Amino acid sequence: MSTAVESKLPLPRPPGPSFWQGFKAYGRDPAMYMHQLFLDYGEVVCWRGTMTIYLLNNPDHVRQVLTQAHPEFTKDLYDYRVLKQTLGNGLVTNDGADWTRQRRLMQPMFHHKIVNAFDTAINGFTATLVDRWQQLPAGQPVALEREMSRITFQIVAATLFGSEINDHAHEMVDILDVINVNTKSAAAFLTLYPWIPSPHNRRFKRVMQRLDNIVYNLINGRRASGIGSQDLLDRLLSVRDEQSGLGMEEKQVRDEVVTLMLAGHETSATALQWIFYLLSKHPEVEAALLSELAVLSGNPATSGDLSRLPYLKQVVQESMRIYPPVWGIARTSTHEQEFGGYRIPAGAYLSIMPYSLHRHPDHWTEPARFDPDRFSPQRSAGRHSYCYIPFAAGPRACIGVGMSMLEIQLVLAQLLPRFWVRPVPGHVIKPMATVTYRPRFGMQVFIEPRQ
Ligand code: HEM
Repeated sequence: MSTAVESKLPLPRPPGPSFWQGFKAYGRDPAMYMHQLFLDYGEVVCWRGTMTIYLLNNPDHVRQVLTQAHPEFTKDLYDYRVLKQTLGNGLVTNDGADWTRQRRLMQPMFHHKIVNAFDTAINGFTATLVDRWQQLPAGQPVALEREMSRITFQIVAATLFGSEINDHAHEMVDILDVINVNTKSAAAFLTLYPWIPSPHNRRFKRVMQRLDNIVYNLINGRRASGIGSQDLLDRLLSVRDEQSGLGMEEKQVRDEVVTLMLAGHETSATALQWIFYLLSKHPEVEAALLSELAVLSGNPATSGDLSRLPYLKQVVQESMRIYPPVWGIARTSTHEQEFGGYRIPAGAYLSIMPYSLHRHPDHWTEPARFDPDRFSPQRSAGRHSYCYIPFAAGPRACIGVGMSMLEIQLVLAQLLPRFWVRPVPGHVIKPMATVTYRPRFGMQVFIEPRQ
């Protein structure tokens, strides 16, 4: 376990290579490279270079960091400063007392009773997608990343903000392409200096203006039409500070809306793509899942049906183990720390990698194998809960965990029995670690109705 200490500890620095040693490999696939560091050097690794990164891969250390948020372990880091260029001070990038206030305010809107009632909307959007897929000409390749991004955006837009921004679902996919880059890439770094006229900065500025227009139109439209639909947007607009009686500033409302719009759809869309991909590679798993889904007799599943579909949940869990949509989480410590007998200085960059924890050989047998049965109650019993953290954990765990698990399962329950989705032969499917862990060249698929 780690302990916070005041004085300099007479302990060694964790082992690890120099930054430059791994620079090329990191560039090819940061997640895979950082996982290799863990296999080569152990559970606490120091990667020195222009930025020194401490990698923590012991689930006890991870628990320590994630359960103690501000003021012990904070988000006062370069990565979140980059994300702030897009998200402002929304829930993902906020910290300290401001974050506590905003989280307390928004948490009730994600109560499972409210979220479970989203099933009708989710099934409605999926039914429209079914209609569209049924009209597809035979043999026409489809960009699955766009299909999934569009439907998950429609779901967030409709359930959290009313239906007003549905029309922008297409545009959002393009906006995201510019925003969703690796926070440590040169392009992302340059956004911290918006006056530099790099091609990415110019594109970024255009996209941000478009995004702001969409969001401020949404906010102004709701103010004009009157608050009363009781969705999250209403709550953000009507809340009053208990002491001052003042409402939330316009910019803070914008930041929360943008955060939920972006954090709340691209992650689920990425998860869905990888699930389709893994099922196409494992027909025996797909067959077992289809036979479970037969209990629905061709009807969409409601939130109440999910307890009858345990294998569906296991498939989703196992897919997110192999391809966690959020592959890395970063924190910094306000104090010097000791982890596993090594000294970590105050202010250090701590990297926690769901990607790596999900492959930890002490906790997973044959980690490379796609095996949804490993999430059966029997085989899950006794597993360390911090070696599986697709939604992070602790006070700053994902606020949308219930919502995304619901939508992913309901979308699959309706699409899978109707369509056979398989990658276009020859299309290269390789992961790319941007903010999300998504297919580098997208996912071109053939979609055929099942007979
Ligand atoms: C498969 C889907 C999803 C995955 C894998 C995922 C994963 C995560 C992870 C790992 C974090 C922690 C990030 C960090 O500490 O840096 C997080 C935070 C967050 N997520 Fe999600 N997420 C998903 C879906 C959603 C949805 C549907 C929403 C909302 C509609 C959402 C909203 C948020 C917000 C607001 C935070 C910040 C929470 C806080 O710090 O208080 N996410 N998510």
